[in-house]
Amino acid sequence: MKLQGRRVLLGISGGIAAYKTPELLRALIKEGAEVRVVMTAAAKRFVTPYTLEVLSRHPVHMDMFAAVAEFPVLHVGLAQWAELVVLAPATAHLLARLACGLADDLLTTLMLGCTAPVLAAPSMEEHMLDHPFTQEHLRRLEGLGYQWAEPATGELASGAFGRGRMAEPEEIAGQVVRHFSAAGDLQGVKVLVTAGPTVEDLDPVRFITNRSSGKMGYALAAQARKRGAEVWLVSGPTALEPPAGVAFKAVRSTLEMQEVLEALFPQMHAAILAAAVADYRPAQVAPQKIKRGTGKMVIELVENPDISARLGHSKQPHQVLIGFAMETEDGVARAKDKLKRKNCDLVVLNNLREEGAGFGVDTNIVTLVDNQGGQEQWPKMSKHQVADRLLDWLGQRLKARR
Ligand code: CTP
Repeated sequence: MKLQGRRVLLGISGGIAAYKTPELLRALIKEGAEVRVVMTAAAKRFVTPYTLEVLSRHPVHMDMFAAVAEFPVLHVGLAQWAELVVLAPATAHLLARLACGLADDLLTTLMLGCTAPVLAAPSMEEHMLDHPFTQEHLRRLEGLGYQWAEPATGELASGAFGRGRMAEPEEIAGQVVRHFSAAGDLQGVKVLVTAGPTVEDLDPVRFITNRSSGKMGYALAAQARKRGAEVWLVSGPTALEPPAGVAFKAVRSTLEMQEVLEALFPQMHAAILAAAVADYRPAQVAPQKIKRGTGKMVIELVENPDISARLGHSKQPHQVLIGFAMETEDGVARAKDKLKRKNCDLVVLNNLREEGAGFGVDTNIVTLVDNQGGQEQWPKMSKHQVADRLLDWLGQRLKARR
Protein backbone atom coordinates (compact mmCIF):
# COMPACT_ATOMS: atom_id res chain seq x y z
CA MET A 1 0.00 0.00 0.00
CA LYS A 2 2.42 2.63 -1.23
CA LEU A 3 -0.21 5.36 -1.57
CA GLN A 4 -1.99 4.87 1.76
CA GLY A 5 -4.13 7.95 2.46
CA ARG A 6 -2.72 9.97 -0.46
CA ARG A 7 -5.28 12.29 -2.05
CA VAL A 8 -5.20 12.02 -5.83
CA LEU A 9 -7.53 13.97 -8.09
CA LEU A 10 -8.04 12.17 -11.39
CA GLY A 11 -9.06 14.49 -14.23
CA ILE A 12 -10.36 12.69 -17.31
CA SER A 13 -10.80 14.43 -20.65
CA GLY A 14 -12.48 13.20 -23.82
CA GLY A 15 -10.04 10.99 -25.65
CA ILE A 16 -10.46 7.35 -26.62
CA ALA A 17 -7.90 6.34 -23.94
CA ALA A 18 -10.48 7.38 -21.32
CA TYR A 19 -11.73 3.78 -21.56
CA LYS A 20 -8.53 2.75 -19.73
CA THR A 21 -9.10 5.06 -16.75
CA PRO A 22 -11.07 2.54 -14.63
CA GLU A 23 -7.93 0.41 -14.67
CA LEU A 24 -5.79 3.37 -13.60
CA LEU A 25 -8.29 4.19 -10.86
CA ARG A 26 -8.21 0.59 -9.62
CA ALA A 27 -4.42 0.57 -9.57
CA LEU A 28 -4.34 3.77 -7.47
CA ILE A 29 -6.97 2.50 -5.05
CA LYS A 30 -5.20 -0.84 -4.71
CA GLU A 31 -2.17 1.07 -3.43
CA GLY A 32 -4.35 2.79 -0.82
CA ALA A 33 -4.93 6.18 -2.52
CA GLU A 34 -8.09 8.22 -2.00
CA VAL A 35 -9.26 9.28 -5.43
CA ARG A 36 -11.81 11.88 -6.55
CA VAL A 37 -12.71 11.92 -10.21
CA VAL A 38 -13.51 14.96 -12.33
CA MET A 39 -14.58 14.45 -15.94
CA THR A 40 -15.06 16.77 -18.88
CA ALA A 41 -18.29 16.55 -20.84
CA ALA A 42 -16.59 14.72 -23.73
CA ALA A 43 -15.00 12.16 -21.38
CA LYS A 44 -18.47 10.77 -20.59
CA ARG A 45 -18.72 9.58 -24.19
CA PHE A 46 -15.83 7.18 -23.66
CA VAL A 47 -16.34 5.91 -20.10
CA THR A 48 -19.42 5.97 -17.90
CA PRO A 49 -19.28 8.02 -14.70
CA TYR A 50 -21.08 5.17 -12.93
CA THR A 51 -18.12 2.80 -13.41
CA LEU A 52 -15.78 5.39 -11.91
CA GLU A 53 -18.18 6.10 -9.04
CA VAL A 54 -18.35 2.44 -8.10
CA LEU A 55 -14.57 2.04 -8.25
CA SER A 56 -13.74 5.26 -6.38
CA ARG A 57 -16.70 4.91 -4.00
CA HIS A 58 -17.36 8.62 -4.44
CA PRO A 59 -19.48 10.74 -6.74
CA VAL A 60 -17.82 11.72 -10.00
CA HIS A 61 -17.80 15.49 -10.58
CA MET A 62 -18.63 17.13 -13.89
CA ASP A 63 -20.90 20.07 -13.19
CA MET A 64 -19.46 23.37 -11.95
CA PHE A 65 -22.67 24.20 -10.17
CA ALA A 66 -23.62 20.86 -8.60
CA ALA A 67 -24.38 20.90 -4.86
CA VAL A 68 -21.85 18.56 -3.22
CA ALA A 69 -21.88 18.19 0.56
CA GLU A 70 -18.13 17.33 0.77
CA PHE A 71 -17.12 20.52 -1.08
CA PRO A 72 -19.50 23.48 -0.60
CA VAL A 73 -17.69 25.53 -3.29
CA LEU A 74 -16.88 22.63 -5.56
CA HIS A 75 -13.96 23.90 -7.69
CA VAL A 76 -12.22 25.50 -4.68
CA GLY A 77 -12.79 22.50 -2.44
CA LEU A 78 -11.46 20.00 -4.98
CA ALA A 79 -8.43 22.22 -5.78
CA GLN A 80 -7.51 22.38 -2.10
CA TRP A 81 -8.21 18.72 -1.43
CA ALA A 82 -5.80 17.37 -4.04
CA GLU A 83 -2.23 16.43 -3.10
CA LEU A 84 -1.56 15.42 -6.71
CA VAL A 85 -3.59 15.89 -9.89
CA VAL A 86 -3.40 13.18 -12.54
CA LEU A 87 -4.75 14.19 -15.96
CA ALA A 88 -5.35 11.03 -17.98
CA PRO A 89 -5.96 11.13 -20.81
CA ALA A 90 -4.87 14.73 -21.37
CA THR A 91 -6.24 15.59 -24.82
CA ALA A 92 -4.83 18.31 -27.08
CA HIS A 93 -7.90 20.39 -26.23
CA LEU A 94 -7.49 20.03 -22.47
CA LEU A 95 -3.78 20.91 -22.68
CA ALA A 96 -4.61 23.95 -24.84
CA ARG A 97 -7.24 25.15 -22.39
CA LEU A 98 -4.90 24.72 -19.44
CA ALA A 99 -1.98 26.41 -21.21
CA CYS A 100 -4.19 29.40 -22.00
CA GLY A 101 -5.65 29.64 -18.50
CA LEU A 102 -9.25 29.04 -19.65
CA ALA A 103 -11.82 28.16 -17.01
CA ASP A 104 -14.82 26.99 -19.02
CA ASP A 105 -15.73 23.82 -17.12
CA LEU A 106 -15.18 22.31 -13.69
CA LEU A 107 -11.83 20.66 -14.48
CA THR A 108 -10.14 23.72 -16.02
CA THR A 109 -11.58 26.04 -13.36
CA LEU A 110 -10.31 23.97 -10.47
CA MET A 111 -6.90 23.65 -12.17
CA LEU A 112 -6.52 27.44 -12.17
CA GLY A 113 -6.87 27.50 -8.41
CA CYS A 114 -4.89 24.35 -7.67
CA THR A 115 -1.31 24.49 -6.41
CA ALA A 116 -0.82 20.71 -6.19
CA PRO A 117 1.72 19.11 -8.55
CA VAL A 118 0.32 17.76 -11.81
CA LEU A 119 1.12 14.55 -13.68
CA ALA A 120 -0.42 14.58 -17.16
CA ALA A 121 -0.67 11.72 -19.68
CA PRO A 122 -1.05 13.27 -23.14
CA SER A 123 -3.05 11.21 -25.60
CA MET A 124 -3.73 12.13 -29.21
CA GLU A 125 -2.88 11.38 -32.83
CA GLU A 126 0.78 11.94 -33.73
CA HIS A 127 0.06 14.95 -35.99
CA MET A 128 -1.86 16.64 -33.21
CA LEU A 129 1.00 16.00 -30.79
CA ASP A 130 3.55 17.41 -33.22
CA HIS A 131 1.47 20.49 -34.07
CA PRO A 132 3.40 23.64 -33.08
CA PHE A 133 0.46 24.81 -30.94
CA THR A 134 0.37 21.57 -28.94
CA GLN A 135 4.15 21.67 -28.54
CA GLU A 136 3.93 25.27 -27.36
CA HIS A 137 1.23 24.30 -24.84
CA LEU A 138 3.32 21.42 -23.53
CA ARG A 139 6.27 23.77 -23.06
CA ARG A 140 4.17 26.33 -21.22
CA LEU A 141 2.72 23.74 -18.89
CA GLU A 142 6.15 22.27 -18.31
CA GLY A 143 7.27 25.75 -17.28
CA LEU A 144 4.62 25.54 -14.55
CA GLY A 145 6.18 22.30 -13.33
CA TYR A 146 3.86 19.76 -15.02
CA GLN A 147 5.31 16.26 -15.05
CA TRP A 148 4.50 13.95 -17.95
CA ALA A 149 3.59 10.33 -18.32
CA GLU A 150 5.14 10.35 -21.78
CA PRO A 151 2.92 9.18 -24.64
CA ALA A 152 3.97 5.88 -26.17
CA THR A 153 4.37 4.71 -29.75
CA GLY A 154 1.89 2.13 -30.95
CA GLU A 155 -1.45 1.68 -32.61
CA LEU A 156 -3.59 4.83 -32.45
CA ALA A 157 -7.38 5.22 -32.50
CA SER A 158 -7.30 5.94 -36.24
CA GLY A 159 -5.65 2.58 -36.86
CA ALA A 160 -2.42 4.35 -37.77
CA PHE A 161 0.82 3.44 -36.05
CA GLY A 162 2.65 6.30 -34.37
CA ARG A 163 3.41 8.34 -31.27
CA GLY A 164 0.66 9.74 -29.09
CA ARG A 165 -0.85 6.70 -27.38
CA MET A 166 -1.55 7.29 -23.70
CA ALA A 167 0.99 5.68 -21.35
CA GLU A 168 -0.38 2.42 -19.93
CA PRO A 169 -2.40 2.69 -16.67
CA GLU A 170 0.12 0.67 -14.64
CA GLU A 171 2.90 2.94 -15.86
CA ILE A 172 0.99 6.07 -14.82
CA ALA A 173 0.19 4.49 -11.44
CA GLY A 174 3.91 3.68 -11.06
CA GLN A 175 4.77 7.32 -11.67
CA VAL A 176 2.27 8.36 -9.01
CA VAL A 177 3.96 6.00 -6.54
CA ARG A 178 7.40 7.35 -7.48
CA HIS A 179 6.11 10.91 -7.09
CA PHE A 180 5.05 10.29 -3.51
CA SER A 181 8.06 8.21 -2.55
CA ALA A 182 10.41 10.93 -3.83
CA ALA A 183 8.47 13.64 -1.96
CA GLY A 184 9.95 14.13 1.45
CA ASP A 185 13.20 12.26 0.74
CA LEU A 186 15.20 15.45 1.42
CA GLN A 187 13.51 16.13 4.75
CA GLY A 188 15.99 17.69 7.17
CA VAL A 189 18.54 18.45 4.44
CA LYS A 190 19.79 22.04 4.15
CA VAL A 191 20.51 23.01 0.57
CA LEU A 192 21.99 26.19 -0.81
CA VAL A 193 21.17 26.92 -4.47
CA THR A 194 22.57 29.73 -6.62
CA ALA A 195 20.88 30.98 -9.77
CA GLY A 196 20.89 33.61 -12.46
CA PRO A 197 23.69 35.83 -13.70
CA THR A 198 25.82 38.19 -11.68
CA VAL A 199 25.99 41.82 -12.78
CA GLU A 200 29.14 43.94 -12.70
CA ASP A 201 28.55 47.67 -12.81
CA LEU A 202 30.65 50.06 -14.90
CA ASP A 203 28.84 53.22 -13.84
CA PRO A 204 25.35 54.03 -12.51
CA VAL A 205 23.72 53.07 -15.85
CA ARG A 206 25.91 50.44 -17.52
CA PHE A 207 26.97 46.97 -16.57
CA ILE A 208 28.47 43.68 -17.77
CA THR A 209 26.41 40.53 -17.39
CA ASN A 210 25.48 37.28 -19.21
CA ARG A 211 22.47 35.50 -20.68
CA SER A 212 21.56 33.32 -17.68
CA SER A 213 17.77 33.29 -17.08
CA GLY A 214 17.95 31.57 -13.67
CA LYS A 215 15.46 28.86 -14.75
CA MET A 216 17.68 25.89 -13.84
CA GLY A 217 18.53 27.19 -10.36
CA TYR A 218 14.93 28.21 -9.59
CA ALA A 219 13.69 24.77 -10.72
CA LEU A 220 16.26 23.14 -8.40
CA ALA A 221 15.18 25.30 -5.46
CA ALA A 222 11.47 24.62 -6.08
CA GLN A 223 11.91 20.84 -6.45
CA ALA A 224 14.23 20.58 -3.43
CA ARG A 225 11.65 22.42 -1.33
CA LYS A 226 8.87 20.11 -2.56
CA ARG A 227 10.98 17.15 -1.48
CA GLY A 228 11.22 18.47 2.06
CA ALA A 229 14.62 20.23 2.03
CA GLU A 230 15.25 23.54 3.75
CA VAL A 231 16.32 25.71 0.84
CA TRP A 232 18.28 28.95 0.54
CA LEU A 233 18.19 30.46 -2.94
CA VAL A 234 20.79 33.12 -3.68
CA SER A 235 20.10 34.73 -7.02
CA GLY A 236 21.43 37.40 -9.31
CA PRO A 237 18.81 39.55 -11.09
CA THR A 238 16.23 37.46 -13.02
CA ALA A 239 12.62 37.86 -14.15
CA LEU A 240 11.50 34.89 -12.03
CA GLU A 241 9.43 34.71 -8.84
CA PRO A 242 11.21 32.97 -5.95
CA PRO A 243 9.49 29.62 -5.26
CA ALA A 244 7.19 29.43 -2.23
CA GLY A 245 8.73 28.29 1.04
CA VAL A 246 12.33 29.05 0.04
CA ALA A 247 14.60 31.51 1.93
CA PHE A 248 15.53 34.00 -0.77
CA LYS A 249 18.45 36.39 -1.01
CA ALA A 250 18.85 38.66 -4.04
CA VAL A 251 22.38 39.74 -4.94
CA ARG A 252 23.90 41.67 -7.82
CA SER A 253 27.67 41.34 -8.15
CA THR A 254 29.97 38.34 -7.77
CA LEU A 255 31.52 39.87 -4.64
CA GLU A 256 28.07 40.23 -3.07
CA MET A 257 27.25 36.63 -3.98
CA GLN A 258 30.54 35.48 -2.49
CA GLU A 259 29.84 37.21 0.82
CA VAL A 260 26.39 35.65 1.15
CA LEU A 261 27.53 32.16 0.10
CA GLU A 262 30.55 32.08 2.39
CA ALA A 263 28.35 33.05 5.32
CA LEU A 264 25.71 30.39 4.55
CA PHE A 265 27.77 27.44 3.29
CA PRO A 266 29.16 26.18 6.64
CA GLN A 267 25.61 25.43 7.85
CA MET A 268 24.60 23.53 4.70
CA HIS A 269 24.59 19.85 3.82
CA ALA A 270 24.81 20.67 0.13
CA ALA A 271 25.31 23.53 -2.29
CA ILE A 272 24.23 23.51 -5.93
CA LEU A 273 25.89 26.32 -7.84
CA ALA A 274 23.78 26.91 -10.93
CA ALA A 275 24.50 30.65 -11.16
CA ALA A 276 26.49 31.95 -14.12
CA VAL A 277 29.00 33.98 -12.19
CA ALA A 278 30.98 36.76 -13.90
CA ASP A 279 34.67 35.87 -13.94
CA TYR A 280 35.77 39.52 -14.28
CA ARG A 281 34.58 42.91 -13.04
CA PRO A 282 35.56 46.45 -14.02
CA ALA A 283 38.62 47.57 -12.05
CA GLN A 284 36.73 50.73 -11.15
CA VAL A 285 33.06 51.56 -10.91
CA ALA A 286 32.62 55.17 -12.01
CA PRO A 287 30.48 57.09 -9.50
CA GLN A 288 29.00 59.24 -12.32
CA LYS A 289 27.85 58.26 -15.81
CA ILE A 290 30.87 57.84 -18.07
CA LYS A 291 30.83 60.54 -20.76
CA ARG A 292 31.60 60.24 -24.45
CA GLY A 293 35.16 61.37 -25.03
CA THR A 294 37.90 60.22 -27.33
CA GLY A 295 37.21 57.81 -30.19
CA LYS A 296 38.41 54.74 -28.29
CA MET A 297 37.77 53.44 -24.81
CA VAL A 298 39.46 50.64 -22.88
CA ILE A 299 37.82 49.09 -19.87
CA GLU A 300 40.17 47.43 -17.44
CA LEU A 301 38.80 44.28 -15.83
CA VAL A 302 40.07 42.45 -12.78
CA GLU A 303 39.46 38.82 -11.93
CA ASN A 304 36.64 37.87 -9.56
CA PRO A 305 37.17 35.23 -6.90
CA ASP A 306 36.19 31.71 -7.94
CA ILE A 307 33.44 31.21 -5.36
CA SER A 308 32.94 27.52 -6.12
CA ALA A 309 36.66 26.77 -5.67
CA ARG A 310 36.69 28.64 -2.36
CA LEU A 311 33.66 26.72 -1.12
CA GLY A 312 35.09 23.47 -2.48
CA HIS A 313 38.32 23.90 -0.56
CA SER A 314 36.50 24.78 2.68
CA LYS A 315 34.12 21.81 2.28
CA GLN A 316 33.67 19.46 5.24
CA PRO A 317 33.50 15.68 4.69
CA HIS A 318 29.72 15.58 5.20
CA GLN A 319 29.07 18.35 2.63
CA VAL A 320 28.26 17.84 -1.04
CA LEU A 321 29.11 20.46 -3.64
CA ILE A 322 27.61 20.47 -7.13
CA GLY A 323 28.89 22.85 -9.80
CA PHE A 324 27.73 23.57 -13.32
CA ALA A 325 29.86 23.98 -16.40
CA MET A 326 28.78 25.76 -19.54
CA GLU A 327 31.02 24.92 -22.42
CA THR A 328 31.06 25.34 -26.16
CA GLU A 329 33.90 22.86 -26.84
CA ASP A 330 35.85 20.05 -25.11
CA GLY A 331 32.97 19.76 -22.62
CA VAL A 332 33.79 16.58 -20.71
CA ALA A 333 37.52 17.27 -20.41
CA ARG A 334 36.82 20.75 -19.07
CA ALA A 335 34.14 19.50 -16.71
CA LYS A 336 36.65 16.98 -15.29
CA ASP A 337 39.16 19.75 -14.85
CA LYS A 338 36.60 21.92 -13.02
CA LEU A 339 35.62 19.01 -10.81
CA LYS A 340 39.21 18.77 -9.58
CA ARG A 341 40.05 22.45 -9.47
CA LYS A 342 36.92 23.34 -7.51
CA ASN A 343 36.89 20.16 -5.40
CA CYS A 344 33.26 19.48 -6.41
CA ASP A 345 31.47 16.16 -5.93
CA LEU A 346 29.65 16.56 -9.22
CA VAL A 347 29.84 18.83 -12.24
CA VAL A 348 26.77 19.18 -14.44
CA LEU A 349 27.86 19.98 -17.95
CA ASN A 350 25.72 21.91 -20.44
CA ASN A 351 26.85 22.07 -24.01
CA LEU A 352 25.74 25.47 -25.26
CA ARG A 353 26.07 24.35 -28.86
CA GLU A 354 23.22 21.85 -28.52
CA GLU A 355 19.67 22.93 -29.32
CA GLY A 356 17.41 22.69 -26.26
CA ALA A 357 20.27 23.19 -23.76
CA GLY A 358 21.58 26.08 -21.72
CA PHE A 359 20.44 29.68 -21.38
CA GLY A 360 16.85 30.86 -21.60
CA VAL A 361 15.19 27.63 -22.82
CA ASP A 362 12.94 25.46 -20.65
CA THR A 363 14.79 22.24 -21.47
CA ASN A 364 18.32 21.08 -20.84
CA ILE A 365 20.71 18.42 -22.09
CA VAL A 366 23.35 17.61 -19.50
CA THR A 367 26.25 15.29 -18.86
CA LEU A 368 27.18 14.40 -15.30
CA VAL A 369 30.79 13.99 -14.26
CA ASP A 370 31.33 12.92 -10.65
CA ASN A 371 34.34 12.62 -8.37
CA GLN A 372 34.12 8.81 -8.23
CA GLY A 373 34.87 8.41 -11.91
CA GLY A 374 31.22 8.28 -13.01
CA GLN A 375 30.03 9.90 -16.22
CA GLU A 376 26.48 9.89 -17.55
CA GLN A 377 24.72 11.71 -20.37
CA TRP A 378 21.00 12.43 -19.96
CA PRO A 379 18.59 12.93 -22.85
CA LYS A 380 16.86 16.28 -23.44
CA MET A 381 14.31 16.92 -20.69
CA SER A 382 12.64 19.84 -18.93
CA LYS A 383 14.68 21.80 -16.41
CA HIS A 384 12.26 20.59 -13.72
CA GLN A 385 12.99 16.98 -14.67
CA VAL A 386 16.74 17.64 -14.71
CA ALA A 387 16.33 19.23 -11.27
CA ASP A 388 14.48 16.20 -9.93
CA ARG A 389 17.04 13.73 -11.23
CA LEU A 390 19.91 15.81 -9.85
CA LEU A 391 18.16 15.81 -6.49
CA ASP A 392 17.85 12.00 -6.74
CA TRP A 393 21.62 11.94 -7.22
CA LEU A 394 22.13 14.29 -4.27
CA GLY A 395 19.77 12.27 -2.05
CA GLN A 396 21.74 9.09 -2.79
CA ARG A 397 25.12 10.76 -2.21
CA LEU A 398 23.97 12.20 1.14
CA LYS A 399 22.58 8.81 2.17
CA ALA A 400 25.88 7.13 1.33
CA ARG A 401 27.69 9.67 3.52
CA ARG A 402 25.55 8.96 6.58
N1 CTP B 1 31.64 29.80 -10.44
C1 CTP B 1 31.87 30.43 -9.23
N2 CTP B 1 32.60 31.58 -9.17
C2 CTP B 1 33.11 32.12 -10.29
C3 CTP B 1 32.89 31.50 -11.54
C4 CTP B 1 32.16 30.32 -11.56
O1 CTP B 1 31.40 29.94 -8.22
N3 CTP B 1 33.81 33.25 -10.22
C5 CTP B 1 30.88 28.53 -10.45
C6 CTP B 1 29.60 28.52 -11.27
O2 CTP B 1 28.48 28.82 -10.47
C7 CTP B 1 29.57 27.11 -11.77
C8 CTP B 1 31.00 26.70 -11.88
O3 CTP B 1 31.72 27.61 -11.06
O4 CTP B 1 28.96 26.22 -10.86
C9 CTP B 1 31.58 26.71 -13.27
O5 CTP B 1 31.36 27.97 -13.90
P1 CTP B 1 32.09 28.30 -15.28
O6 CTP B 1 31.87 29.72 -15.63
O7 CTP B 1 31.75 27.24 -16.28
O8 CTP B 1 33.62 28.02 -14.83
P2 CTP B 1 34.86 28.94 -14.58
O9 CTP B 1 35.53 28.44 -13.36
O10 CTP B 1 34.49 30.38 -14.59
O11 CTP B 1 35.77 28.53 -15.79
P3 CTP B 1 35.81 29.10 -17.29
O12 CTP B 1 34.96 30.33 -17.34
O13 CTP B 1 37.25 29.34 -17.51
O14 CTP B 1 35.27 27.98 -18.13
